[in-house]
Amino acid sequence: MNGTNPGTRRYYIWSIGCQMNDADTARAAEALERMGFSRVADPRQADVLLLNTCVVRQSAEDRVRGHLASLKSVKRRRPDAFLAVMGCFVHDAAQLQRAYPYVDLFLRPSDVEGFVEAVRARMDSGEALLPPPPAPVSVYVPIIYGCDHFCTYCIVRLRRGRERSRPVEEIVGEVEDWVRRGAREVTLLGQNVDAYGRDLPGRPDLADLLEAVHGVENLWRIRFLTSHPADMTDRIIEAVARLPKVCEHFELPIQSGDDAVLKRMVRGYTVARYRDLVRRIRETVPGVSLATDVIVGFPGETEQQFLNTYRLLEEIRFDVVHVAAYSPRPGTAAARLPDDVPPEEKHRRLRMVEELQERISWEINAQLVGKVVEVLVEGRRQGRWFGRTRTNKLVFFQSPENWMGRLAQVHVAHAGPWSLSGEVTDGLTADPAESAEKTGHH
Ligand code: SAM
Ligand code: SF4
Ligand code: F3S
Repeated sequence: MNGTNPGTRRYYIWSIGCQMNDADTARAAEALERMGFSRVADPRQADVLLLNTCVVRQSAEDRVRGHLASLKSVKRRRPDAFLAVMGCFVHDAAQLQRAYPYVDLFLRPSDVEGFVEAVRARMDSGEALLPPPPAPVSVYVPIIYGCDHFCTYCIVRLRRGRERSRPVEEIVGEVEDWVRRGAREVTLLGQNVDAYGRDLPGRPDLADLLEAVHGVENLWRIRFLTSHPADMTDRIIEAVARLPKVCEHFELPIQSGDDAVLKRMVRGYTVARYRDLVRRIRETVPGVSLATDVIVGFPGETEQQFLNTYRLLEEIRFDVVHVAAYSPRPGTAAARLPDDVPPEEKHRRLRMVEELQERISWEINAQLVGKVVEVLVEGRRQGRWFGRTRTNKLVFFQSPENWMGRLAQVHVAHAGPWSLSGEVTDGLTADPAESAEKTGHH
């Protein structure tokens, strides 16, 4: 790669996993583009290859190993290409290096800086960076790395380490930078975003951070995820209610609706406490939408315990439920328990939750038919503009105008479980927070 002409440098990125990985991948891609690289879909054409990995379930790890194996022949033919592997797959780098000798560099999760430095070190030094490309309408900004919880099924905390919060000023500076480049919405990211700040001097919390980010001019919307039920506070809920730019949406994984299972998962709350939290959120933030995560088939989960989860989902009626079948992960406490719910049974429970939730999401979305929703337009897909409501619902509409990065008032004509569609009635390009009332019209 040394001495390659900036005009002909190519990079390839393969990325799976959560929003944190998406954020890291986007940052790595941008850094490469500023060094003059252009993206290719075929790894055989690339001078730099990055795999950003996930191991949250065995199926994710299998995909990582499969993809890594397929790059062996690519590296054999192009030994001068630079292959880096980052993310939660990377634990014991020395051991991985022995298993995959053709990989040039293993990097811990979120070590984008380490990746960029390594690429720069291999290029001609002293080259000026290209100006940054325009920003997407909606961007992810990590605010806290790692996790201090002890959920017994979870490998994330083993791979991402202890909680580390970024200082408020650093985050605000990054948001200002994104907005200067054209972004209008930020999503503040962390494994437990509501634990933000406990490790910082003066202990600012997520409410303080929301307030600080809210002051960024020309920023229209603020989102945050994922929230841990045991870390959520009234202060944060009130900040969401009070601050006009903060969207009425919480991602609040419940994992199980049975106290005995929650206890074995070491989630740190009971069903009663979760229910009370949902009540407080719904009372304080009118029109709020709620998403959650559920694991079915955790070790020892009986039919009755599963049905407790099922009934709780019927009762709470989340807008979105991400459901996963339990997968034992090496090194976790639950991996020492017998994985005693058979695969077919896990699958049956998974399907039951999916079918229930499809119906509920559909019913909730159907209530929006005939109403006008405000959509921040993020792009075009198959001839239609798309974007999200403040409550995080995906909306499509057709229009000959250029709606990119604008707020569209969309009259909803159709609703499905996963998206809405309709016709645009009016547009706004000014800062909506100046005039709009906080809630009520969503
Ligand atoms: N910190 C967040 C939380 O507390 O839920 C997100 C953690 S993880 C990146 C995202 C989701 O993956 C979890 O909410 C959980 O439902 C699922 N998950 C984690 N470990 C799992 C496992 N061993 N088997 C199945 N699903 C798992
Ligand atoms: Fe994993 Fe639990 Fe931490 Fe979420 S809170 S990352 S599920 S240990
Ligand atoms: Fe996967 Fe790591 Fe995210 S295991 S889900 S990439 S935190």
